Amino acid sequence: MKEITLQIDGKEIRARDGMTVLEAASKVGIQIPTLCYHEALEPYGGCRLCTVEVEERGRTNLVASCLYPVAEGLIVRTRTPKVDKLRKTILELLLAHAPDSPILEEYAKEYGAKKDRFEKHPSFCILCGLCVRYCAEVKKANALSFISRGTSREINFIPEISSKVCWDCKECFPLCPTSYLQAAYVLTQGLYSQEPPFEVKGLKGVTAC
Ligand code: SF4
Ligand code: FES
Repeated sequence: MKEITLQIDGKEIRARDGMTVLEAASKVGIQIPTLCYHEALEPYGGCRLCTVEVEERGRTNLVASCLYPVAEGLIVRTRTPKVDKLRKTILELLLAHAPDSPILEEYAKEYGAKKDRFEKHPSFCILCGLCVRYCAEVKKANALSFISRGTSREINFIPEISSKVCWDCKECFPLCPTSYLQAAYVLTQGLYSQEPPFEVKGLKGVTAC
């Protein structure tokens, strides 16, 4: 496969054609923060925390490194004032949903993000989609799905499937950056043992079909 030469943070890097900037950077030990990326899954581009600055043919843009393909002569900067400011804002928005997420807290320290900048909406889920996509793409089980759109978007365990497959799997649990998933699963299990209609009050992000 064709080799590409690009520059990341001033280092000349050789990468395979078809790789993303994130993959090329990680191959040479340059860390870019991610939340919705997983090497076993199709790129998703949901969280935008992996944003970097790229310069190509004299033009500079902010792009999601987990989606952006390497190109000959591309210049990538993974830490610039613009990049850091964007990551800080993204983290502050996500912390409003999951203030106790260890990975968010760790990134928050690095980027100076404040937990209380935005009004709290503790849904605990940051909609990274790792659980939904892992279940669909790797396990082919589709025991979880997204429902609704925009600010009403939530993840949903599908009790008819999850009651049969999740107990012996649980592989999505450690992927969740907020640990929310375990609570959602336990709750869904509890709900499934009741007669419908299921009713969930006060815990946004969990619904039962
Ligand atoms: S439950 Fe966790 S893994 Fe699933 S979408 Fe929400 S934050 Fe991501
Ligand atoms: S890791 Fe690239 S958009 Fe989430």
